[in-house]
Amino acid sequence: MFEPDDWHITVLRDEAVQWMLSGGGRHFVDGTLGGGGHAELLLRTREDVELLGIDRDPEALHQATQRLQSFGERLKTSQGSYATLATHLEAVSFPEKVDGILLDLGVNSRQLDDGERGFSFRHDGPLDMRFNSEGSGQTAADVVNTYSVEDLARIFRRWGEEPQAKRAAKAIVAWRETKQPFSRTFELKDCLHAALPVRRKKKAKQVDPATRCFQALRIAVNEELVQLETFLETFTEHLNVGGRIVIISFHSLEDRMVKRRFQALAKGCICPPDLPVCGCGIEPSLQILTRKPIWPSDEEVTHNPRARSARLRAAKCII
Ligand SMILES: C[S@@+](CC[C@H](N)C(=O)[O-])C[C@H]1O[C@@H](n2cnc3c(N)ncnc32)[C@H](O)[C@@H]1O
Repeated sequence: MFEPDDWHITVLRDEAVQWMLSGGGRHFVDGTLGGGGHAELLLRTREDVELLGIDRDPEALHQATQRLQSFGERLKTSQGSYATLATHLEAVSFPEKVDGILLDLGVNSRQLDDGERGFSFRHDGPLDMRFNSEGSGQTAADVVNTYSVEDLARIFRRWGEEPQAKRAAKAIVAWRETKQPFSRTFELKDCLHAALPVRRKKKAKQVDPATRCFQALRIAVNEELVQLETFLETFTEHLNVGGRIVIISFHSLEDRMVKRRFQALAKGCICPPDLPVCGCGIEPSLQILTRKPIWPSDEEVTHNPRARSARLRAAKCII
């Protein structure tokens, strides 16, 4: 099950692929191709599968294309965000509606482990954090060097769930005003280490004080929740009846967004509960297949600790 892979160890690989293929059909989308682990199993499991792989990161797309080249024309790729799915489908002449869409959110291991990408406080490098570092969007350095204390604190609180968000934000602003603007990951790490107390979790490993702020900055730089929200608004337009949607998230905010949207689409009607008869006429469009999220097994987490916060939700399109 857990094959060695110097790129990225795929999380909930077998579970995700089983759910994706459980409705039949042959056109599928992997909206977060990454190292191509899910994609490879999808293409290997059924010979008639054709897959569109999307990733915002040109480097990930390049590496995955090389890994999957033996599948030839069965794999199409497109660079950009899964949030603009319609554009990608059209660009590679894929059908407008497909039989399954997979999102495996967040970062891949190579992005985290490559200091030059600036995602991790464990490696010194430019404070970048953009999924597409060839693009023009703002970097993490731009954010920490220009945002106010209030805006930084809001990011750290909301997207990092950092209890000392204000303290971290104040320390960052004081650092850039008294020392120099941030340009390296280790400068930010040193600043956060000086400002934030080490939190010790019972029975668990100590959490590095920089963890939550780095995560929050990555989410802010890449507008990750905006991308997810946009996708959740529109994905049913691109699923055939019986088509599967499978989403693996690593952050409680993402998982909550997925859960609520699935529930809303499964309910349909948006009339106030006290209205005796439905007036909106909105039919349910989704059937939830995983009543509770699926978590990685203990065995998987032992093998790949990065899987520990993953949870998978699956649903099928019914109209
Ligand atoms: C966890 S990895 C996917 C790993 C992949 N499932 C595998 O098995 O190798 C997440 C990938 O999603 C990409 N990504 C993040 N946000 C994205 C977005 N909005 N659109 C497309 N790709 C995105 C990242 O660049 C990263 O390569």
